[in-house]
Amino acid sequence: MRKKLIEQLNELEQHRAISLHVPGHKNSTIGHLDILDIAHDKTEIVGLDNLHEPEEVLMDLNDFLSEKYKGYIAQVLTNGSTTGIIAAILAYKEIANRYIIMHNAHKSVHHGIDLAHHEPVITNSIYDIDLLPNDIVIVTYPTYEGRTEDIERIIEHVHGCGAYIIVDEAHGAHFDITPKFPKSAMNFDADIVIQSYHKMLPALTMGSVIFVNNRNISTYRHVMKYVNYIETSSPSYLVMASIESAHEFYLNYSDELFFLKRQMIFDALKQVGCIVGPQDDPAKLLVKHREHTVYELEQALIDSHIYPEMTTEDGVLFILPLSHEDDRYPYHVLLSRLEALNFVKNDIKTNDELYLLSNKVCIQHIIPYPPGVPFVRKGEVITAGDVKTLIHLYQNRVKIEGVTSNIEYYIDRER
Ligand SMILES: Cc1ncc(COP(=O)(O)O)c(C=O)c1O
Repeated sequence: MRKKLIEQLNELEQHRAISLHVPGHKNSTIGHLDILDIAHDKTEIVGLDNLHEPEEVLMDLNDFLSEKYKGYIAQVLTNGSTTGIIAAILAYKEIANRYIIMHNAHKSVHHGIDLAHHEPVITNSIYDIDLLPNDIVIVTYPTYEGRTEDIERIIEHVHGCGAYIIVDEAHGAHFDITPKFPKSAMNFDADIVIQSYHKMLPALTMGSVIFVNNRNISTYRHVMKYVNYIETSSPSYLVMASIESAHEFYLNYSDELFFLKRQMIFDALKQVGCIVGPQDDPAKLLVKHREHTVYELEQALIDSHIYPEMTTEDGVLFILPLSHEDDRYPYHVLLSRLEALNFVKNDIKTNDELYLLSNKVCIQHIIPYPPGVPFVRKGEVITAGDVKTLIHLYQNRVKIEGVTSNIEYYIDRER
């Protein structure tokens, strides 16, 4: 019999599942989303404005968000940063010379460039490319794992060449929340910055904001045109109100409790044999274990109903709660569950059909998710080494988008 989604969700509640993942409200224990009521789920009735041409209460909300950084115009998004990234890419379509992207670009960047009918130039470092006027550079800052680079220098370099820069700041909506957190690219005059409020701040999933530098009002108009094309015509008022709440949270935040609780989690992990890698963003930790693989560590956590954000060879990624005075985050339960972690060897899952892909042309991006960064792009050859990596990921139960369609395609061709 089909298991209902609601049953699956309720089961997590019954187990008091602990969130070390997005969204930033951490099962509504952080922030103040309890002000929301399902009855607030309304539509564009009189008084509630229209997000695609805001003139009243939603214009006020955008203005409130615009105050985050001087010189930017904010627009609320209710379909995640994905919408903002694609709209930003399309907004430059008419003038773009080339789109220059990094190897760690999220799939939405690839999809946006596809829709703009361009082939991206992909590089490891912006400094390896001779930038030309009207090139559009897209960088991920911070990375999913919370690493940052010298974004001020990158922006200066890009602008110095007459190019434009879009910053995918999906994981940085909390930047500048206090001086102990990294700085947003909006301090340094980036052209367009997109932030997922839902990832790191206590907003509902999909609540995001696009910020356009008001130096170029025509870019802003193009962004709004494409947001209108690709975003739902029925934006969720619950999501929008949650962004407002998260922004108030951001403005009033102080970090004393956060650093205290972070240290407690740090110590507890070390006690049970973990190696903890702090990232540039203090809200992220990459955790490994001295005696067990990252996948066994992930499994031990999940068996204890502790849910991390993702696992890669670099470690298990913890996204920490932005603790505050009256939060409801279950720290004590987390600490006692960490103390009692129980490791078992993962049973190996196999998929022999993966071998079929060796030396074949990839017909659809292959994307481990998370983090959502293409591993083999459409049109590239899937090497024997790629297949080996995919088998390793598969054995460790990493979810990989695009594999099934590639396999089905080649099985069909061989029939
Ligand atoms: C680096 C990066 N950019 C963009 C996105 C898309 O953000 P959203 O989920 O808000 O659409 C993600 C999502 O995980 C991401 O990791």
